[in-house]
Amino acid sequence: MHSTAAITFWALTSHPLREAPWAGDNRSPRGFDHPARRTLRKPGRECTALPVVNPTQIEARNLPRHVAIIMDGNGRWAEQRGFSRTEGHRRGSDAVRRVVRAARRLGVEALTLFAFSEQNWARPQLEVQLLMGLLREFLVSERGEILENGIRLRAIGDLTRLPTEVRRELDPLQNDSASNGAMTLTLALSYGGREEIADAAKDLARAVAAGQLDPENITPELLQSRIASVAVGDPDLLVRTGGELRISNFLLWGAAYSELHFTQKLWPDFEAEDLYRAVAAYQSRERRFGLTGGQVRNLRAAGSVSDEDVATLVPVAKGYAHGGR
Ligand code: FPP
Repeated sequence: MHSTAAITFWALTSHPLREAPWAGDNRSPRGFDHPARRTLRKPGRECTALPVVNPTQIEARNLPRHVAIIMDGNGRWAEQRGFSRTEGHRRGSDAVRRVVRAARRLGVEALTLFAFSEQNWARPQLEVQLLMGLLREFLVSERGEILENGIRLRAIGDLTRLPTEVRRELDPLQNDSASNGAMTLTLALSYGGREEIADAAKDLARAVAAGQLDPENITPELLQSRIASVAVGDPDLLVRTGGELRISNFLLWGAAYSELHFTQKLWPDFEAEDLYRAVAAYQSRERRFGLTGGQVRNLRAAGSVSDEDVATLVPVAKGYAHGGR
């Protein structure tokens, strides 16, 4: 850890509101064993060392602003225990609650969870119904805490495919939390990265067909302006649980410069500490946005201290700084 980072974990101490309903999750520190001493730079092997990390080891100044998570492994978690997949998803919902609280306490500005993909509609009907039921239950049971804790809830994806009972909870919560600014929790529902890029392309094609746009003027920035998930910002850190090393059609555009963190942990076993571990691994990396290490160090020496400062100087990474978080 940098010498400047002997940080008191301000998010735990300076916002009493954050603590009130969720104090039960607030576990005592379990030792100082910084992950930078382990083999954390080897992609996909982070979790083999399973370093103990607690919030006091996380640098407040270099927090990822936006963490996105592919929550995988509910089914395997259940199978390993002789339970039905249903039970795995139920326990996955509990992990969602834990992680939202942990991210909020940590001070992350945006958390995006891949809760249901466009492709998940092809799962057995009963499993789809159960997932929709759990989603509805989550929206009902967490509504109070989301609003009390200043969280803005958003959803991305083809929401028109969601059952009415889900929309009945989702739509008012999106509206009622719209002016909250402590953290944005985005649920990706019926979401597909390729699908939303195709939608953006259709939009531009219509403008070309109507004679309003010259194809020569199509730039990454223009295409990006039509991609719905850009509104939640590019993830700084993309975590996937369950041991698979892929991003499965999640935030394909926004993840262009995300730091990836894979863990073997199955989603229902994912604890606050696993989030801290992912954040600590993120903080041990150098983000370069296509520049050389030397250029990045020069920029930082010249006072461009944050990743966002660096990203704004690199045209292709510009979107990074313009998310509506
Ligand atoms: C992947 O596990 C997980 C999902 C397809 C859905 C994620 C849903 C939840 C975590 C619960 C409900 C969500 C909310 C927001 C309350 P998998 O079934 O593919 O696991 P497997 O790969 O082990 O089969």
